[in-house]
Amino acid sequence: EQIKKGKYDHFMQKEIHEQPHSLTTTMRGRLKDSNVVLGGLKDHLRTIRHSRRIVFIGCGTSYNAALAARPFFEELSGIPVTMEIASDLLDRQGPIYREDTAVFVSQSGETADTLIALEYALENGAMCVGITNTVGSTLARKTHCGVHINAGCEIGVASTKAYTSQIVAMSMMALAIGDDRISTQSRRAAIINGLSELPNKVREVLKLDSEMRDLAESLIDSESLLVFGRGYNYATALEGALKVKEVALMHSEGMLAGEMKHGPLALVDETLPIIVIATRDACFSKQQSVIQQLHARKGRLIVMCSEGDATSVCPSGSCRVIEVPQSEDCLQPVLNIIPLQLLAYHLTVLRGYDVDQPRNLAKSVTTQ
Ligand code: G6P
Repeated sequence: EQIKKGKYDHFMQKEIHEQPHSLTTTMRGRLKDSNVVLGGLKDHLRTIRHSRRIVFIGCGTSYNAALAARPFFEELSGIPVTMEIASDLLDRQGPIYREDTAVFVSQSGETADTLIALEYALENGAMCVGITNTVGSTLARKTHCGVHINAGCEIGVASTKAYTSQIVAMSMMALAIGDDRISTQSRRAAIINGLSELPNKVREVLKLDSEMRDLAESLIDSESLLVFGRGYNYATALEGALKVKEVALMHSEGMLAGEMKHGPLALVDETLPIIVIATRDACFSKQQSVIQQLHARKGRLIVMCSEGDATSVCPSGSCRVIEVPQSEDCLQPVLNIIPLQLLAYHLTVLRGYDVDQPRNLAKSVTTQ
């Protein structure tokens, strides 16, 4: 086991630091100049393009990855995308139609709720696509077609490298679906270029490791942590909070910043730490105003921003700032989650909990 961990103390730590490599293998052989080639999808792209709706279905981190993919999927495909947590779809027996494409996202490809939702979608006649890390898994076998994310074996119960590879695999899928649209040609080229730059940018973000350890030290005794995001980074807020709660065993909630005034604002005081994700995209000025409002209520703020933006997000200099490199806006979630993975990791170690096997949790939940 020690050999497999190499120079790292824990699998989660190793898997976080492996991401420049795992993302490279996710993309290997699939980006050809201005084209995306996904062998597992190519015979089904026509059907997918003619769907009335795309439904993303998953659990846990895989659901969050799908949520991160939703905005660029809608933009590049022009098809409405709805989100389903697998258990909730089953509880409601929600409508799924023949004209739908149902995209199932699962690292293991064996999560019971996701597989039962797959049976349900197949019975209802939908085109079923699998996004998984596990070749030969039940999900890979039972879907009509799919994309293997090729992130390599993930051992830590808390998913890290699979999350970023899922987002990248889904971005390639969205590019492939939308490649017959002339109106998005330059955007598509920018995203393809952004994908090729990602591994190096991830390397840069990983240099924040000791900064995140310092931040974890300052949060070690906190009872709770909020994470505010919106737009492309709503999913980052949910996933960052999920990492903190599942491994560091600290109460943490990801929140849509646009909903701040409808409840969360009542929680703000000088002690509750709040991470605000405010990297550059179309929502930036809205996030600046969120920061001002939290600041006016003396919130304890930690702001994640693009490199060089520290004074734009925190003119008073009173918040802690995490600066990350800028990527194409829709790929920014791949970079932004990494400091939060590192934070969750260090918090767990400092609080003395089991990193790779958090209590009560399993890597793959194969019962309902
Ligand atoms: C469990 C794991 C999570 C994972 C979720 C979905 O809860 O602890 O890390 O995100 O299952 O698993 P899947 O294999 O379907 O992605």
